Amino acid sequence: MRVLMLGAPGSGKGTQGVRIAERYNVPHISTGELLRAHVKDGTKLGRVAKVHMDRGDLVPDVLIYAIILDQLIEPEPPRGYVLDGFPRTLPQAQIAYEVAKEMDMTFDAVLCLDIPHDELMRRLEERGRGSGRADDQEATIRHRIEVYEEKTLPLLDYYKERGILVRIDAVGGVDEVTQRIFDALDRL
Ligand code: AP5
Repeated sequence: MRVLMLGAPGSGKGTQGVRIAERYNVPHISTGELLRAHVKDGTKLGRVAKVHMDRGDLVPDVLIYAIILDQLIEPEPPRGYVLDGFPRTLPQAQIAYEVAKEMDMTFDAVLCLDIPHDELMRRLEERGRGSGRADDQEATIRHRIEVYEEKTLPLLDYYKERGILVRIDAVGGVDEVTQRIFDALDRL
């Protein structure tokens, strides 16, 4: 199973990505989590990435390629994966396709979690009160949503044209959304 999670900030990519990975016994590879680990460890990459993440902007592509290629190639390519947070721009999608094609690892499905703005704001503001994630402040959340709409939404057409886009209604309880995803994946 090779799945890409797409969706606005707070749509549930991480929450659902972990569950899909468990069910299909493949790694959950989240660029957001990998970046936050670099920030926590105080690496050079993490220090540069933090400036962009705290503003709610995307981290420069070159840093993303460095961390993602590391995961997909070393020590050996995983049989399958749930990719969460990469690719999220058209140039990243084109590179991802070239690399995946080369390794015979192209996506089986791209799951897009659909959810209205007010629910995203509610979920992320609530998490921001507890988690201390620097990008879960109201103004930064709004900016992250704008960045998603400008840079990531165009990927939906890209994957729709390739016939692998699956849209999931992501409103409702976590278990309910998981069931919709499993039903959709079982139909593939
Ligand atoms: P990333 O970590 O990918 O953040 P994001 O896309 O903003 O997504 P979130 O993690 O906020 O939300 P999610 O959709 O995973 O939802 P979650 O399951 O957490 O990226 C962070 C930053 O890293 C980016 O802004 C960028 O700077 C950088 N970056 C990452 N990848 C990059 C790339 N490829 N290129 C450039 N830069 C990159 O759920 C959210 C909350 O809602 C949680 O509290 C959860 O418990 C709750 N929740 C989930 N589902 C439900 C439900 N059904 N009902 C109620 N609550 C729910």
